Amino acid sequence: MTDPTCHLYIVTGASRGLGRAIATQLAASGATVLGLSRQAPPAEFEQWTCNLADPLPVAVRLGVWLGAFEPGRFSAAVLINNAAMLADPRPLADVDLEELSATTRVGLEAPLLLSAAFLRATRGWTGQRRVLHISSGLGRRAMASQGPYCAVKAGLDHLARAQALEEAQQPNGAKVCSLAPGVVDTDMQIQLRGADPQGFPDRDAFVQMKTSGRLDSPSTAAGKVIAYLTRADFGANPVADVRDP
Ligand SMILES: NC(=O)c1ccc[n+]([C@@H]2O[C@H](COP(=O)([O-])OP(=O)(O)OC[C@H]3O[C@@H](n4cnc5c(N)ncnc54)[C@H](OP(=O)(O)O)[C@@H]3O)[C@@H](O)[C@H]2O)c1
Repeated sequence: MTDPTCHLYIVTGASRGLGRAIATQLAASGATVLGLSRQAPPAEFEQWTCNLADPLPVAVRLGVWLGAFEPGRFSAAVLINNAAMLADPRPLADVDLEELSATTRVGLEAPLLLSAAFLRATRGWTGQRRVLHISSGLGRRAMASQGPYCAVKAGLDHLARAQALEEAQQPNGAKVCSLAPGVVDTDMQIQLRGADPQGFPDRDAFVQMKTSGRLDSPSTAAGKVIAYLTRADFGANPVADVRDP
């Protein structure tokens, strides 16, 4: 893409973990960055505190905010749907219903509504437009006691496929990709390793990945995601992995 100081990035879940590292690196490149999370620790970018388990007002606000920019203001505008919640890893019937609802709303409803608001508000913009959903290998490979997460990520993958088809029909259509970021040393991995092994048969695999040093730091993983995002062929494959050649 072009001069980073003319780029706009909206990053959900920018308060910690992978999203924080992505937003920080993008802001350091000189880009305009807006982070969306429930918490807003001090950062070099603008942040809105919001609960993406209630995504409708956030999507409306985003559309209004984007609508205030001139259509030629940015040479690239990118929405990164990174925020996700992990329901307690246990069989579906044992998970709290409110937690299930929040998990699916943060992980799937929010990306869907934010994408719609972003694509609508930037439709007439002249710069490149990209939508990046942060997916997971578990969207492509099922795992017991991870049903909500598997469903959310498989949903993002298929949403990306449909969005890519739609946008290909539009003048200056957005490039869309649902990208697995690898395994990253964040709170989410701590939650997986700390789960009750009685309800989560694969827990030890996550413990072993940590002890054998197979996790990327958030900063390393963010570098890989940003490198993928800025590839000339971004969106050619709407479902991808940072490890793809
Ligand atoms: N870690 C891995 O190994 C791994 C592997 C594959 C894919 N991923 C994916 O990578 C992405 C980032 O994961 P991570 O490991 O960095 O997770 P994380 O450390 O748990 O961070 C999650 C982020 O999402 C935000 N978030 C959660 N619930 C929210 C809500 N209700 N409203 C607004 N924001 C909310 C959190 O912010 P607040 O708490 O401030 O709201 C936080 O910034 C996720 O999509 C995850 O599925 C991670």
